[in-house]
Amino acid sequence: MYLARKNPEVQMSQESKAGQEPHQPVLYQEIIHALKPKPGGNYVDGTLGAGGHAWGILQASEPGGRLLGLDLDPVALAIAGEKLAAFGERAILRQASFATLQEQLNEVGWESVDGILLDLGLSSMQLDTPARGFSFQADAPLDMRFDPRNPTTAADLVNTLQEKDLAGLLYEFGEERRSRQIARAIVRQRPIRTTKELADIVARANRSSKRGIHPATRTFQALRIAVNQELDALEQVLPQVVAALRPGGRIAVIAFHSLEDRIVKQYFRLESRDCICPPEQPICTCEHTASLKEIVRRPIRPNDAEIERNPRARSARLRVAERI
Ligand SMILES: C[S@@+](CC[C@H](N)C(=O)[O-])C[C@H]1O[C@@H](n2cnc3c(N)ncnc32)[C@H](O)[C@@H]1O
Repeated sequence: MYLARKNPEVQMSQESKAGQEPHQPVLYQEIIHALKPKPGGNYVDGTLGAGGHAWGILQASEPGGRLLGLDLDPVALAIAGEKLAAFGERAILRQASFATLQEQLNEVGWESVDGILLDLGLSSMQLDTPARGFSFQADAPLDMRFDPRNPTTAADLVNTLQEKDLAGLLYEFGEERRSRQIARAIVRQRPIRTTKELADIVARANRSSKRGIHPATRTFQALRIAVNQELDALEQVLPQVVAALRPGGRIAVIAFHSLEDRIVKQYFRLESRDCICPPEQPICTCEHTASLKEIVRRPIRPNDAEIERNPRARSARLRVAERI
């Protein structure tokens, strides 16, 4: 377990900002507004990253609010630990997947929570660190693991999968229409060790990519999702969220691509209905009852000012639901 360490420098710089989180993460105000942190409440940030949203939740839940912060990445946890040090024991940080939410809550002894945040995908910090192998902008080993304990890297996938499985992966997780041509080119030129080697191979095989978008964008997204089993984790956590939230508690999810957003949207819609029988069935036999109420029907997007400040925010979509 990582404890937010008391560090006087962090404490001073936080206090001197008079309530401003210094580097605001995506949709920061919207998240605080959606979760409505209250004094003494218990909150989970399942994707702690650099701790920006967590900082806001802890500040807004003063006095006495507590936050359990999870991340797979030990580097992110160390940075967040410094940032949240001033909150002392109110911040509990653990290296774990949000897919194990229930287990993490059991370990800290929380029966239920008032709010949960998932800010999905990778952080700017991870993308901007060449050695992590997430970016085609720099040459580095093809890694892409959030958690260095994960035995499978992106290099393992591109160098060992059969061509048809690789094409399937690119199609399913990257929505890449030229998945078969790209998979064929990759298999022909194995072994591939670095991000640049892969990006160049994909660029040669995928000349039809839209202007302004690097032809390897979808391939890199697909590999990252597969390495970290991101969609499985999201599907696994949603029922645990419903089980953990107190009535009136809220879940807020920021998705960065349609695959994630679709899973969240469909889950929220399903859990907002009292009956989930097929429409052609005249009598309800499912005994399902609604457990969530959608707070926003359409996802909240960053405004123009935020996108101008942070162009990576442009694809963010926030959905919020409340436990009934
Ligand atoms: C977009 S960043 C979060 C940024 C954060 N909200 C902030 O304020 O700085 C996503 C983070 O989630 C982490 N992550 C991704 N999948 C995860 C999972 N299944 N469990 C825990 N952390 C995960 C990544 O390592 C990354 O640090």
